[in-house]
Amino acid sequence: MSELVIYGSYGYTGKLIVEAAVDRGFDPVLAGRNREKIDRQAAELGCEFEVVGLDEPKVLDMLLEDATAVLHCAGPFSRTWEPMVDACVRTGTHYLDITGELGVFEAIHDRDEEAEAADVMLLPGVGFDVVPTDCLAAHLAERLPDADALELAFHAEMGVSRGTAKTMVEHVDEGGAVRRNGRIERVGQAHQSRTVDFGWGHDGMHAAAIPWGDVSTAYYTTGIPNITVYMSMPERAARQQRIAGMFSPVLGLPPVKAGLKWIIEQTTDGPNAEERASERSYVWGEARTADGERVVSRLRGPHTYSLTAETALAVARRVLDGEAPTGFQTPAGAYGPDLVLEVDGVEREDVV
Ligand SMILES: NC(=O)c1ccc[n+]([C@@H]2O[C@H](COP(=O)([O-])OP(=O)(O)OC[C@H]3O[C@@H](n4cnc5c(N)ncnc54)[C@H](OP(=O)(O)O)[C@@H]3O)[C@@H](O)[C@H]2O)c1
Repeated sequence: MSELVIYGSYGYTGKLIVEAAVDRGFDPVLAGRNREKIDRQAAELGCEFEVVGLDEPKVLDMLLEDATAVLHCAGPFSRTWEPMVDACVRTGTHYLDITGELGVFEAIHDRDEEAEAADVMLLPGVGFDVVPTDCLAAHLAERLPDADALELAFHAEMGVSRGTAKTMVEHVDEGGAVRRNGRIERVGQAHQSRTVDFGWGHDGMHAAAIPWGDVSTAYYTTGIPNITVYMSMPERAARQQRIAGMFSPVLGLPPVKAGLKWIIEQTTDGPNAEERASERSYVWGEARTADGERVVSRLRGPHTYSLTAETALAVARRVLDGEAPTGFQTPAGAYGPDLVLEVDGVEREDVV
């Protein structure tokens, strides 16, 4: 098998991905900036490793020179995507990451032509954000090709990892976002609510709009120009988000963000193995045409972090097998709506 580098391999999610990769017969090269942590992880798993910071372009190039692809797991990606994409373009290495950050998808989309010229694929978002939602969006678009509006929602029984919480803090002052007439528009935090029937015993749930990655990617996958993404949350939490939105200039101050990240460091561990094994994730989507025709489909699958590891490796496997369309790609754009069904325990049903 050709070579896969996993960067950020000792973070919470990187570790899950690396362990699943070794389990499934990949032979990944582990990489990250902390020698002690990389050393220990590589010794435990019997993997090759390289210690390299993202601010060391020459060493990064050496790391990627013989690799087919890198799976970048070091976030917040708003701070880490660029040096890695630069190195991939320089060395002709396919780029995968597990970002969920709207601005990162858009910034990587802007590198499309450069990636085409370098013969590399840039495919951000190979985790829970955005594989299941992107696949559902593509499925709905196939069912209703004239759709001009798309609503997606997810319900995840979860706590979040330290890195995810810090990434949320990174964007806490940016408010919400939707796509209208093909353009991304900034809106207030949780500006819209609705009730969603996620199915499998999770009907009638309250959900509020969030600036999820699909506001960027579902448009590139489906061409549908109006997109809103919701996350299940109690009405009270949506109200609190709207109130917090009024304080976003304060929340955006560097000392406030640093304080919030410090609190996360002290209090957040991420879901444990038992929680990951017992809890599930749910995705719902509706596509509509201008004259009122509609289709609704939904998915359920493993816990968000387990699903992230599995979808990331499903994509990595395709890439190492030589299936890597060049330029900027989305998961379902590159591999079709059924990509997510390759993961054990994922089911999809058409409701309307
Ligand atoms: N798409 C999805 O569904 C999904 C799922 C899970 C996670 N994520 C995202 O993945 C990211 C990581 O989450 P996590 O829970 O694994 O976080 P984590 O446990 O905090 O791990 C973060 C990793 O990134 C590394 N890192 C951070 N900044 C770096 C930099 N500037 N240079 C080099 N390495 C850097 C850290 O290394 P050090 O310890 O050396 O700092 C660590 O290895 C977050 O952005 C999260 O939102 C997305």
